[in-house]
Amino acid sequence: MKEDFVKRLIKEAEKSMHKAIAPYSKFKVGVALATKRGKIYTGCNIENQSLMLSICAEKVALMKALSEGDKTFQVMAIVSGKKEYCFPCGSCRQMLFEFAKDIDILLYSKKGIKKYSLNELLPFAFTS
Ligand code: THU
Repeated sequence: MKEDFVKRLIKEAEKSMHKAIAPYSKFKVGVALATKRGKIYTGCNIENQSLMLSICAEKVALMKALSEGDKTFQVMAIVSGKKEYCFPCGSCRQMLFEFAKDIDILLYSKKGIKKYSLNELLPFAFTS
């Protein structure tokens, strides 16, 4: 993956993170999901007073892309603005497995960038 593209993804994820609505957890997350053709969909977490209705940044980006008809993905960058890396939660990993099984996940924090395949993060995923 080209360095410039990685930088762009991280920038887009950061821009989206600033739009997060997270008054309860104060934990803002932003992601940038790139299709195989290079189109970028962003997402941020959106919380609800009824806390269980909150939605993760990863799901927002994935649903935006799927609802626009895009179905083939190459990479998702995730940022949280915290010092530690923000790994996607288990439910997002499972959701990504179904729709974007072969993607790479880039985690960005002030410590640098880490790259994983989804398979590394979710071995033995559920399939019916
Ligand atoms: N969150 C995400 O958006 N993505 C993750 O990968 C982990 C957690 C959100 C959910 C909730 O709004 C807040 O971060 C704290 O859990």
